[in-house]
Order: sequence, then structure tokens, then C-alpha cells
Amino acid sequence: MAEPLKTIIVGAGHRSLIYASLAEIKPEKMQITGLVEPNELRRKAVCSRFGIPEERCFESVEELIKVPKFADAAINGTMDSIHVSTTIPLLKAGYDVLLEKPFAVNEKEARQLYDSAKKYGRKVMICFVLRYAPFYREIKEKILAGEIGDIINIQLSEFVSYHHMSTSHVRGKWRNSDQCGASMLLAKCCHDLDIMMWLMGGDMPVSISSFGCNKQFVKENAPENSGTRCMLDCPYVDSCLYSAKRLYIDHPDRWSFYVWADLEDKGEATLENKIRALKTDSPYGVCVYKNDNNVVDHQSVLVNFASGATGTHNMIGGASRGCRRIHITGTKGEIFGTCEDGEFTLLKIDPTPGNEYSSEIIDTEVKGDSHGGGDLLLAEDFADYVSGATPSVSCTSLEDSMKGHLAVFLADESRENGGRVMELKI
Ligand SMILES: NC(=O)c1ccc[n+]([C@@H]2O[C@H](COP(=O)([O-])OP(=O)(O)OC[C@H]3O[C@@H](n4cnc5c(N)ncnc54)[C@H](O)[C@@H]3O)[C@@H](O)[C@H]2O)c1
Repeated sequence: MAEPLKTIIVGAGHRSLIYASLAEIKPEKMQITGLVEPNELRRKAVCSRFGIPEERCFESVEELIKVPKFADAAINGTMDSIHVSTTIPLLKAGYDVLLEKPFAVNEKEARQLYDSAKKYGRKVMICFVLRYAPFYREIKEKILAGEIGDIINIQLSEFVSYHHMSTSHVRGKWRNSDQCGASMLLAKCCHDLDIMMWLMGGDMPVSISSFGCNKQFVKENAPENSGTRCMLDCPYVDSCLYSAKRLYIDHPDRWSFYVWADLEDKGEATLENKIRALKTDSPYGVCVYKNDNNVVDHQSVLVNFASGATGTHNMIGGASRGCRRIHITGTKGEIFGTCEDGEFTLLKIDPTPGNEYSSEIIDTEVKGDSHGGGDLLLAEDFADYVSGATPSVSCTSLEDSMKGHLAVFLADESRENGGRVMELKI
């Protein structure tokens, strides 16, 4: 049996630790042997969790690459704007990399990363976890098996729930593209554009157009006499749909890894401290209508493919239920469903006497997981991919992930230019 993949965690935050947990669940696949993390508290906690020796814990990638290569690969779960600058030195030092999405924040960076991976002969796999969700994987297999014929149209929608939208994209880390480097489409929907490109296979996207804006979370929509911080000075604290008290105190576990991360790191996440933070310095305590957010809350993207097929993606923030929906129409049938329900319907044209179409429900048995159960399957596939096994049908190699990111960059450019049609050149 192959040796476990010796892996270094780079950025020991929420996402990296999900993938790294493969080393605990399947130690025969992965072993965590090093760490790069500037936050001392996290560094200590993660070193002790995975038994990493002190001499293999570093504050920066620059420090790591000063020592001779001691692992096969790295999991890079740093924040969006430093993905490329932290990955290129790892590639140069000989490590293969599992890199979080978005793998780059603009086209120039994306091409720079691609060229570096080629130059240093390293593998880079992107954390497009949805490709591994059984829901999308089985849809891909049905398409590959020719069950719905050639695709004529593909429709994707992502409904971002009111609590997810306000936590991540109005108050949280991805609220302002000038600060985090990523637009809403890039941060949230590079997954969806990737899924679209993956399901369309060799049919290349040729042109793109997009519209969208921030319609809801603007000053003009603040209720009369509302305050600046829900729990400090707002008379709507018990009635507003977006009240920090209702979202974070009444639901203390939901999004806790974002909202209470600082307090939890220090072991200080008491109710008293949470309320104090929301009243004083926590970004999650600010009124959703009076913040410095600049990203869109809804956006529509229209894609034209080389074959003449068309695709749409709609992102709508502030929905009551967060979910992803898909509807694909081919020359022989259709596939449609909701990822979070864990099942999709396969319809096939059936013109035999007495029939119109056949219908089958395909149950993937993974329900209620926003990534459809894809996180650990991706980590395991990365270990296999780097170890030389044949890549799975889902494999999110950098080469195969470029189309989706380029589509996102052009869609945003189109949106900023009133929906102008943009030509896509891979
Ligand atoms: N694949 C998905 O579905 C998915 C879901 C959510 C977030 N993400 C992406 O995952 C990434 C990480 O998000 P997160 O919420 O885990 O972030 P996080 O803030 O929890 O973790 C980032 C970690 O990187 C560390 N760090 C900062 N600068 C560093 C440096 N120079 N070198 C090494 N480490 C450094 C931070 O101290 C922190 O511990 C983001 O790019 C985000 O967009 C992906």
C-alpha cells in the first residue's frame, strides 16, 4: 500500500483543518508533518492536535522554504488575496499544493500561477469541493453516459441564505472586494461557474454577459431611527431580520467559526464576551444597512458556448433557505434537482404510444450538507492524485479549473460595464 501523503498545513484556519482532518480519519492516506501559521495561538493548538514537532512549525512560507523539503505536499487554506503569493514559493520548493478557491483574484494572477506550476512541474489541485459532492458527481456521470444527449442549456442558481449572506458578505470577511480581493461572484460562485464548465465538458465558453448590484444592504434601506450596532443603539434589535442578537446570540453555533473565531481562539467565548464584542468592536455587530460592504447581493451570468449551447447562473443573496439548484436540458432528456436535498430527477423523452417521458429520482443519500459531502472526498482524491493514482472524474487540477475562474473574471468585468458582452479566450 502507498505511504500516507506527508502534508504541511499552510494557514491553519477553518478550511485547512477540514481537509487536514483526513489525517485523523484515514491516517493511511495523509499525515500532517508541518505547519505554517502566523497566529501563535492557532499554531500551538494545531501542532499539538497533529503532533507536529516544533522545528516543523513556521510563521511564514518564507521561513518554511529555508529548510530542506520534508513533505510531499501542502494544503494552502490562507485567505483569497494571498493564495498565489504563498503558493508559488511552495511550488518552487518542490511541494504539490491543494489550494483553496478562489485560486487567484484576477486573470493575471491566475495565469502566473498556471505558468509557475508548469515551470516547476508540480501538481496544483483546487478545492472545488462541489465536484466531489455525490449530487454533482452522479449528474456528471449521467451526462458522460449520454443519458440526456447533448446539452442544449444549463441553468444553475445559488440561493445564499439571509444569515449566510449577512455573516459572510455584508458583515464578514468577504464584504468588501477592495479589502478581501474577491468579488461576490468570485468568493461565492466560482464553485458554480466551475461546475458549469465541468459539466459542459469540452464545449468551450466563448462569450459572457452579466448584471447585478447590491440592492438590499444599502444605507437607503435602513429603518428610520435605526442604530449603528444592533445590540448597542438600535430600537429594532428584537425585530430586524438581520439583528446581530437574533442571528448570533439566539443562534450561537451557526457560523460560530467566523463570528466567534477570535474569542474561541483565546478560549473566551462566553455569552458576556460575545455580547460585549457585538456592542463594541466585532464586525458582526454592525448594522447590515450601514456598513462598508461593496459586493453585490445578486448577480446573473449568461454564457454562450462554442456549440451554441447556453448557460445561466443566478446568485441571489438574502434567501430564506440557502441552496443550489440545477436544471440541464439535453437533446434526449433533462436533469434537475437541489444539491441540499441530495437527490435529482432524470427525465427522458419517451415518445412510445401512451408515454411522454420517463422519470427517475436519483438519491445520492447526502442531504443537508452545503458542500454535499464533498470536503473529505476531495482531500482523499488529492492524496491519491499526488501519489500518482489516476485522477478521478472530479479531479480539480489547476489546468481544468482555469475556465471557470476566467469566466468569473469576465462576468464581473461585464457587470461593471453594464452587461457588455465579453469574449473569453482560454
Ligand atoms: N472550498 C470552499 O467551499 C470554501 C468555503 C469557505 C471558504 N473557502 C476559502 O478558504 C480560504 C480560507 O478561509 P477560512 O475561512 O478557512 O480562513 P481562516 O481565516 O479561518 O484561515 C486562514 C488562516 O491563514 C492564516 N494566515 C494568514 N496569513 C498567512 C500567511 N501569510 N501564511 C500562512 N498562513 C496565513 C491565518 O492566520 C488563518 O489561520 C479562503 O480563501 C476562502 O475563500 C473555501
